[in-house]
Amino acid sequence: MERNKVLRLRGLRRYVAVTVIVFVVGLLISALATQVVAAQSPEEGEGVFGQTCAACHTIGGGVLVGPDLQGVTERREESWLMVQIQSPSVHQEQNDPISVSNREEFGLSMPDLGLTEEQVESVIAYLRTGEAAPRTIPGAFIPTLAAGLLTVVALTLFGLRLGRKRVEVRS
Ligand code: HEC
Repeated sequence: MERNKVLRLRGLRRYVAVTVIVFVVGLLISALATQVVAAQSPEEGEGVFGQTCAACHTIGGGVLVGPDLQGVTERREESWLMVQIQSPSVHQEQNDPISVSNREEFGLSMPDLGLTEEQVESVIAYLRTGEAAPRTIPGAFIPTLAAGLLTVVALTLFGLRLGRKRVEVRS
């Protein structure tokens, strides 16, 4: 009877410890996921670039079919880029002077690619990051990661302490 009670208490403690750990880790993961979504734009743009632009453009790799896009966000206005990437035919119809000289230089016109406004903005965000973005953990995530690690370590130590107490109860 007495022993049963002790066993149940032990089970309860372990249950509480595991629940707390799972809950906190879950919270941390969802917090991280939110940050990833918020900071995702250039990442999405990298994907769009790879699928839609890389056949004709490089970033810092020289001229392909069209111009090298390194530094393009500095040499062109954002509004101009929006139009050029979303529907270059608009520039062609307007006889936009930059478009005219680009088409002379490269001997053909960039086609309309049917991207959404959001995709265009992501691509511009990606172009703005400069050369092919290195795949490291962005600085903004580091505090969250550090806090997460600390919490996990603290909870593990806490759990181990509970475990030791359990052994004492048994003797
Ligand atoms: C089929 C080839 C082709 C594809 C695909 C293509 N482009 Fe182009 N792009 C060109 C050519 C050719 C030019 C120059 C002539 C012109 O402006 O029409 C150009 C011009 C540009 C310019 C102007 C650069 C400057 O220095 O003035 C930008 C910006 C640009 N492209 C971005 C993009 C982006 C972003 C994508 C993908 C979403 C893309 N292009 C897809 C061929 C392409």
